[in-house]
Parts: sequence; C-alpha cells; structure tokens
Amino acid sequence: MEMDRYEIKESDNRANGSAPEQEPERQYYYMALVKELVQKQEKELGRPLTFCVTTFGCQMNAKDSEKLAGVLLSCGYQEKEDEEADLVLYNTCTVRENADNKVYGRLGYLGSYKKKHPHMLIGLCGCMMQEEPVVEKIKQSYSFVDFIFGTHNIYKFAEILYKRLITEKRVIDVVKEADKIVEELPSSRKYSFKSGVNIMFGCNNFCSYCIVPYVRGRERSRNPKDIIREIEKLAADGVKEIMLLGQNVNSYGKNLEDPMTFADLLREVNKVEGIQRIRFMTSHPKDLSDDLIQAMAECDKVCHHLHLPLQSGSSRLLKDMNRHYDKEQYLALVEKIKKAIPDISLTTDIIVGYPGETEEDFLDTLDVVEKVGYDSAYTFIYSKRSGTPAAKREDQIPEDVVHDRFDRLLKTVQTLGAKKAEQLTGQRLPVLVESLNDHEEGLVTGRLANNSVVHFAADPSVIGQIVDVTLKECKGFYYLGEM
Ligand code: SAH
Ligand code: SF4
Ligand code: F3S
Repeated sequence: MEMDRYEIKESDNRANGSAPEQEPERQYYYMALVKELVQKQEKELGRPLTFCVTTFGCQMNAKDSEKLAGVLLSCGYQEKEDEEADLVLYNTCTVRENADNKVYGRLGYLGSYKKKHPHMLIGLCGCMMQEEPVVEKIKQSYSFVDFIFGTHNIYKFAEILYKRLITEKRVIDVVKEADKIVEELPSSRKYSFKSGVNIMFGCNNFCSYCIVPYVRGRERSRNPKDIIREIEKLAADGVKEIMLLGQNVNSYGKNLEDPMTFADLLREVNKVEGIQRIRFMTSHPKDLSDDLIQAMAECDKVCHHLHLPLQSGSSRLLKDMNRHYDKEQYLALVEKIKKAIPDISLTTDIIVGYPGETEEDFLDTLDVVEKVGYDSAYTFIYSKRSGTPAAKREDQIPEDVVHDRFDRLLKTVQTLGAKKAEQLTGQRLPVLVESLNDHEEGLVTGRLANNSVVHFAADPSVIGQIVDVTLKECKGFYYLGEM
C-alpha cells in the first residue's frame, strides 16, 4: 500500500473543548487547526496539498462551491483544475434525475482513482445529500467517501473536515433544517470581475414537480446590510457585475425583522459605487410586482434582462403545478414588462412531459413561446423526483411522446431566439469581456447586458472590462463583433 501521507493520530487533536461557540469564529478556529495538519502533511510529503471542488448544479450551487473553496484555501490547500487532487469535493444537485446520475458516474471514476491514491479525501455535499436514500446508498455502495454534509450546515465545513482528519473515520453530518445564516466566512471567486451574491436561501413554493424546497428548506432572507456590505467589498475588489441569487427573489425580505421588498433592495444595490451591472435570478411570475418593473426601469445598472420561468403555457397544468398564475396572467405580465422596458430580453425555463400533459396543453406552451418571443429558453424533460406530489401521479407521459414534444419545442425556441438575436446585428453595445476565446487565438469572449455571448478580436488586457463592440454578424446564439 502506498504510504504517502502523514498519519494523523488522536494525539494530534488540538480541539480540546476550547472551540468558540459563536459562528463564524468557531469555523475560523477549525480552519486554523486544519491548516496545522495540512502543513505537517506538506512537510512530510515535500509538496503542497491540493483540492478540487466540482459544481453540479445551479448558480446557488456554484456560489456555495466558491465558499467551500474559500475555506480550503484558508486551510492551506492549493486549488487544482482537475480531480487528481488530495481532496475532491462534489457539490451535488438533484433537481433532475440526470443530475444524480452524473454524480454517481463521476464518483465511480473517482473511486478507482482513489484505489491508486488511498491518501486522497473524497467529500460530498449539496442538495443530493439532503435526501436520506442517497446517503444510505453512498454508505453502502461508495464506502470510499470520507465525509458528507448537506446544504443546511455548509458553514460547518471546516469543522467537519477537521473531524475527518483527526478521527480517520467517515463523517456524515446532514441536518434536516437550517438553523442560521452564517456571515463573513471566506469565499474564493471564480471570476475576478463578476460574482453571485446570495440574497436569500430556500424556497416556500412547493411547485408540484420540484425537489428544491425539500433539500434547501424554507425561505430565509439575508439582512440587507449584510448584502450591501458584501457588494461594497466586491466592488472595492474590482467586481463590475453582480448576480443577486435566490430561488424566488421576488419574495425577498418578507420575513425579515424589518421587511423590505426586492424592488427596494435593487434600488439600494444600484447605489453601490463601482458596480456597473446588476442581474438577478430567479423571478417567480406570481410575485413580480409593478414596483419591481419600475425599479428595473429606473435603476441604470440593472440589466434589461429578465429570467421569467414559464414551466408550462397550459393554465390547467400551471394550476396542477401549483404555480399560482395562468396563461393569460403570464402573457399580461410580459406585456406590462415590455411596455415599461421596451428593450427587455426575456428568457425562461420550460418543462415538457409533466404528468397528464396533453397535446393541447403542449400547444398552449408553444403558443406562449411564440407570443413572448424569448431570447432563449432552458427546456427540460420532466423528471420524476420522489417525495414530490407530481411523482405520485399515474399519468406519466410515455417517453416517445415527450421526446417528440421536446424536439418541437426546442426547434421553436431556437428559431425564434435566432430571429430575436438577428435584430441586434449592426448595433454598438457594451460588452463585459470575460475570457480568452476557447477556439480561436486573438479573440476574446464577453457578454452583452442581455447575457448574449459576443466573440471579437482584442488584446487579452481587456478581460474584466466593459468595452463597446459593434455586432457584425449574428450566428444564432452568439455574435461576432468588432471593438
Ligand atoms: N426557483 C426557480 C427554478 C429552480 S430549478 C424557479 O422557480 O423558476 C430550475 C428549473 O428546473 C425550473 O425552473 C424547472 O424548469 C426545472 N425543474 C425543476 N424541477 C424539475 C423536474 N422535476 N423535472 C424537470 N425540470 C425541473
Ligand atoms: Fe422549485 Fe418552484 Fe421553488 Fe422554483 S419556485 S425552486 S420551481 S418549488
Ligand atoms: Fe440543483 Fe440544488 Fe440548485 S437541486 S438546481 S443545486 S438548488
């Protein structure tokens, strides 16, 4: 057996009842202790210890990964792009079955890598871990996993890692409910010039198909002062674009001690100097207020882009989905938004093959897609999530019917999206440059305010800056431009 690691003994345990009770102090205490162990191991091995955090889910999942990476950096680990690292942490998603399958598949590979590198640590966290059957399955079939924690106690990562290092035993720490929001923990941004900012956690909506409320718990809003302070810090650090994150940002602030609306939060964020673009995700149509439309129109930094999940165009299905709006209300809302903000770019999420979906229901979805003219849409095949009301339904739709509808929807979405994109050709618009182009040397890639991608020739030094670009050619989903 390969012995390439410093062995930690119980006697190394320095956490002798003196850990602070308060958060985040407690976690900083554990980060310092982990760091000592990491340094000892590094000395023994004569090389730095590395980590890789892999994101499987949505923007909120990605934001959590940045926090986890922040903790590991504070513990003295070095970040690595690939998973051939001393510590690999999977931040899982369970919104659809294929998200779960991806995790199991990758974990299989990781397990065989670990056979050759038995010193490595493998951790699992995120939404999947909030499901009991998943944790059972991992315990039985993936015994090489070293530690597991859930979404509610993610702030305890340093403490959990320390426990694993000291005891050399698998640690499983998943709790059913979130007890607090812990502020001021480290975070390591993936991009230097843009960042997500949590404004709330959890979801109270219980859409009939969706597992998120079960794995993310009830809605909790962050204090506006904490949000603004974080954004001010980001701005001071050179961040130009922020994305305010929540499962339903339109119900932000309702259960704060001093309630505040999302529209008013947006106005406050708009005042932060240095920030040039503000985005937010996701807006539930049922809670989108006139005041928010007003705020979007008047706040100069708020991008004229709205992600407004439709899910279905059929009023009958929307009722069954527990979405609290119908086809007509959704279309009326879109009209109102277009009137107030004529250059608004609209994107959406649509589910095909929800239980009981008839051809007529589906045609209603197509009808809304045509009437709204989305810039783009994420289309999903309905996935049965156990524990949700829709999973119990007996009228699940046969696969071939779903695929046929999915293809028709995708075609419509793409055709209309390309038409919409074509309209901007020739215009000169601001682009936030994000990276070097992956495919062609000399090109960089950036995004318009409406989130569309533009490739153009420029010096790499413009990365992170907002520059004016003329859109020369529309390629359907993206543009070729000229600075
Ligand atoms: N809070 C956001 C969405 C979060 S999940 C909202 O309410 O809009 C992102 C998207 O995944 C959803 O909008 C929905 O379209 C899709 N989704 C959720 N559960 C699903 C399921 N069981 N099957 C297929 N798609 C699903
Ligand atoms: Fe899921 Fe609905 Fe909550 Fe969105 S609003 S996370 S779709 S339950
Ligand atoms: Fe997935 Fe959890 Fe996000 S289930 S979509 S990572 S909230």
